[in-house]
Amino acid sequence: MVTYLVIGASQGIGLALADALSKNREDKVIATQRKESTELRKLTERKNVVILNLDVADQKSIAEFGEKLKATVDSIDIAIFNSAVAKATTPLLETTAESWTEHFVTNSLGPVLVYPQVHPLLLKSDIRKVFFMSSTAGSIQEQVPYPVDAYGASKAHLNYSVRKLSQELAGEHFTIVLLHPGTVSTNAFNAVVSILAGGDTELEEGARNMAITPETCAQQILAAIKALEEKDNGRFVQISDLENVSF
Ligand SMILES: NC(=O)c1ccc[n+]([C@@H]2O[C@H](COP(=O)([O-])OP(=O)(O)OC[C@H]3O[C@@H](n4cnc5c(N)ncnc54)[C@H](OP(=O)(O)O)[C@@H]3O)[C@@H](O)[C@H]2O)c1
Repeated sequence: MVTYLVIGASQGIGLALADALSKNREDKVIATQRKESTELRKLTERKNVVILNLDVADQKSIAEFGEKLKATVDSIDIAIFNSAVAKATTPLLETTAESWTEHFVTNSLGPVLVYPQVHPLLLKSDIRKVFFMSSTAGSIQEQVPYPVDAYGASKAHLNYSVRKLSQELAGEHFTIVLLHPGTVSTNAFNAVVSILAGGDTELEEGARNMAITPETCAQQILAAIKALEEKDNGRFVQISDLENVSF
């Protein structure tokens, strides 16, 4: 039996992942939501899914989540930090303080502040695999050609922190890896594409056609989770082929 934790499982990739992971009834899936998700709630019909509430942008919520997590499971084998906001559609000069703050608090600080609540439970497992959902938008070297500055910078910060964490825990048999899921047709992706396309329906349709479904993405994540091992600790990879993404 494997115990999984999926942070941010109310919709999109996280929901598809919780669904895929919980199909194996011998495994247990702890899935988080920040507000009630009907679709995630439906998964609890499978008795191996437990929902915990968590808003990663709220320190009180993080502390309460930590307590509930300890009361729910003795150990966690594999944790996936998936939650994020992706609302940035502006270049730096047009990005508001509110947008910088929302992306940084949720995407950069959120996983970093939640991780210490999960760490003691990972130490109780021999598997100790931890995955953080990043994005090529957070690559400083590769620079995506779209004005998603607040989102990209927040993921670059996440990449830095996770790489540091992987080094700081080296020798303790962890596998800590940043994942780029590819282009995935979720509400967040579709909303950003609509704004960036600015009414160019051909462009918008082209971008949407490039995207894989959350279900396909979840299958690729499952394969990645299985394949990635301690020797991969500290890497930033795309899930489609586990090739490196530049930091
Ligand atoms: N889709 C893509 O093409 C793509 C590409 C590259 C990277 N990614 C990354 O993949 C991950 C999933 O993205 P997605 O496309 O599936 O997005 P999504 O459908 O918007 O799902 C994001 C998840 O994060 C949760 N979340 C947001 N803010 C939160 C907070 N403050 N506290 C707790 N949970 C919070 C959302 O909960 P609510 O339902 O409450 O909002 C939702 O469950 C993200 O890390 C994203 O950056 C996606």
